[in-house]
Amino acid sequence: MAIKNITWKSYLPTCFKVKCLPSESRLRVLKQDSIQRLSLADISDPGSPLSASDLSNSVIASNLHIFTLAELKEITNDFSSSNFLGEGGFGPVHKGFIDDKCRPGMEAQPVAVKLLDLDGTQGHREWMTEVVLLGQLRHPHLVKLIGYCCEDEHRLLVYEYMARGNLQNQLFPRYTSSLPWLTRIKIASGAAKGLAFLHGEEKPVIYRDFKTSNILLDSDYTAKLSDFGLAKDGPEGNETHVSTRVMGTHGYAAPEYVMTGHLTTMNDVYSFGVVLLELLTGKRALDKSRPAREQNLVKWARPFLKDPHKLDRIMDPRLEGQYSMEGAKKVASLAFQCLSHNPKSRPTMNNAVKILELVLNLNDIPVSSFVYIAPMECKRKEDDPKAIQYEEINEGKLKGNVNQIHQEKGERKKEKGYYRHMHQPSSRAVYSDTACSV
Ligand SMILES: Nc1ncnc2c1ncn2[C@@H]1O[C@H](COP(=O)(O)OP(=O)(O)O)[C@@H](O)[C@H]1O
Ligand SMILES: [Mg+2]
Repeated sequence: MAIKNITWKSYLPTCFKVKCLPSESRLRVLKQDSIQRLSLADISDPGSPLSASDLSNSVIASNLHIFTLAELKEITNDFSSSNFLGEGGFGPVHKGFIDDKCRPGMEAQPVAVKLLDLDGTQGHREWMTEVVLLGQLRHPHLVKLIGYCCEDEHRLLVYEYMARGNLQNQLFPRYTSSLPWLTRIKIASGAAKGLAFLHGEEKPVIYRDFKTSNILLDSDYTAKLSDFGLAKDGPEGNETHVSTRVMGTHGYAAPEYVMTGHLTTMNDVYSFGVVLLELLTGKRALDKSRPAREQNLVKWARPFLKDPHKLDRIMDPRLEGQYSMEGAKKVASLAFQCLSHNPKSRPTMNNAVKILELVLNLNDIPVSSFVYIAPMECKRKEDDPKAIQYEEINEGKLKGNVNQIHQEKGERKKEKGYYRHMHQPSSRAVYSDTACSV
């Protein structure tokens, strides 16, 4: 059954306490037959926030299910710790299961339910940004928003469930082997396509918080971007940038953005370069436990990227040499360009996609009989991969599937260093480096 066409006005009377309706021209409300996306600027304008009736005219309402808090409590077993998946700046995320008992005709499927932490630093605006963006944008490399809940002060989001959790946990596992080379490139390529899609929209979107914990992985390691709370509309027309408060995560945010607050799609490209570097080296963007000069990954590793002879000094030792030399050089050169201090010298995400697709097709991975990947101890019975999995390597080419390798840890651990209440764009304050430390 198709999703019901719901009007926001009737479902969200407590969400939008708007005294007067903003003018039609100002809001540029998206009609069903229009290709223009609803602007995020309308959300952040405190003088004239989006109203329920504005949204009821948009495609957003017809794309999403609206859940009650009681329903979401039920499907997550009252947000029990055994269903806990992860947590960032918005609040905890729990696994749940929906089927046609929840809504007649609803496809039975696992979901992830993100609940606003009412004592936290995020709130209605970040929730609304996710609803407005993911309610309108659909792409194989963006996580699918299934619905939401807005009751009194409660704000929740219901997404498709991503079986392998976030890239951070997969790339830096505590007890198991890390990801094989081609899996890393597949993930980089998928995430790059997600960003390229956002940047290529008629009204470009700047994601603003690209990092390993916001890249989610499907059972076959298809990467999807999640967590759109900080996303912003990009510059349009003759504008070169948009000016904002500086928000994002230490270690990933582009230096010129941190210095000036000037936001462009090139800021995302820089963050993409940081993630590429993490994929190459197996090291976190920031890590206080490393020797002082190696704590900031970009500062330490960037000089090695331009010299192919020095590249093996920074490659992840856990790859045990099982990677394409040619591919590593191409990825290193791409990361080097993405991390350029001059935003104009950075490649577009479309170019990054092309390079990564090339690397995916290279066949020069050294021959080895097989790589054994030990399964991780399972927390939940239904997640048990049961069998030991292998990756066969035959005649220098990876064969077969990249099978179940790791389990999400699902540890209740807050992402650290998530900075939101930043300074004004003119400020040159230096933030404490707390992101990504464990
Ligand atoms: N759809 C999902 N499927 C599986 N796990 C998820 C899903 N969404 C979020 N998570 C887990 O919850 C964590 C926090 O989610 P995220 O959307 O980044 O929240 P925040 O906005 O609080 O940073 C993710 O890093 C991931 O581990
Ligand atoms: Mg997050």
